[in-house]
Amino acid sequence: MTAALRLTNLQKTYRNGHRALDGVDLEVAAGDFFALLGPNGAGKSTLIGIVSSLVNKSAGRVEVFGHDLDREPEAAKRCLGVVPQEFNCNNFEKVIDVVITQAGYYGVPAAQARAQAEVYLRQLGLWEKHQTQVRELSGGMRRRLMIARALAHQPRLLILDEPTAGVDIEIRRSMWRFVEELNAQGVTIILTTHYLEEAEALCRNIAIIDRGAIVEHAPMRTLLAKLNRETFVLYLQTPLAAEALRESPYPMRALDAEAVEVELREGDDLNTLFRWLDARQVRVRSLRNKANRLEQLFLDLTQPATAPPTAPGVPAAQAHA
Ligand SMILES: Nc1ncnc2c1ncn2[C@@H]1O[C@H](COP(=O)(O)OP(=O)(O)OP(=O)(O)O)[C@@H](O)[C@H]1O
Ligand SMILES: [Mg+2]
Repeated sequence: MTAALRLTNLQKTYRNGHRALDGVDLEVAAGDFFALLGPNGAGKSTLIGIVSSLVNKSAGRVEVFGHDLDREPEAAKRCLGVVPQEFNCNNFEKVIDVVITQAGYYGVPAAQARAQAEVYLRQLGLWEKHQTQVRELSGGMRRRLMIARALAHQPRLLILDEPTAGVDIEIRRSMWRFVEELNAQGVTIILTTHYLEEAEALCRNIAIIDRGAIVEHAPMRTLLAKLNRETFVLYLQTPLAAEALRESPYPMRALDAEAVEVELREGDDLNTLFRWLDARQVRVRSLRNKANRLEQLFLDLTQPATAPPTAPGVPAAQAHA
């Protein structure tokens, strides 16, 4: 089957000499819900900018549903809708006109464009603002307007660059439901986000980019299965002495007088840990995962290997065997 997006040896060096993309090869299958993750400055927006023809590539090839962006730009662009990271709608246009104008660029007849704009604005909870000037919208409304605009010509591939940044939790959830529904209807979705728990919940496949290079590309399930350690924070009713920490069945370090962090690997279990705490008459008030699993993986892949900082005045953790 033709890939929705295929990047071959994509390179970008900005005019100031900064190498933002260092030969990226990436394929996103048609129908996928794909996460492109990476730390600030990794090259995500540069990559999306090139795919949406806003940034000139230095070398490489972009194909959208088999259409080469250089050789068949119109066919490629017709398949593609992009929600950019930065807001770029005309502030003096009315909300509905933003969507209709965009559809016009792709030759969608006016009546059809208006009807479709209404559908999307209603689904995105913006219909009551459809006659409002863009500059009067809140930040979260602007993000949703950019989604409606990106869909104006009903593209087969929708790329969203941090669509939920600064959006409140309720609206964020409704946005995801909306995008999931689009995906269920067959639209391929690629999104970047720094909310990793959302990527974990929504996306089937994932690529992690760091300093202009893809450092991981795999099904979400495979990646999460590979991650065989989990860190828990325990809030204690009774403090644990520093010496006791060293006897813990699993690597443990104090965060403060009332909280410890403990790392469990494959084959470890919480029962053993609790039995050990019980034997010391240490009562655990509550427990939480330190990071969600994808966050842990992300940090492992994108951060230099340095020891985590230790809280002031607290003994360092025992090293993991
Ligand atoms: N117009 C530009 N000129 C020079 N350098 C740029 C330009 N745009 C981006 N860069 C640099 O390219 C690198 C990648 O930037 P990019 O915006 O693609 O990162 P990103 O992964 O989208 O990050 P974020 O998560 O912060 O949005 C950064 O080092 C950035 O400073
Ligand atoms: Mg960006």
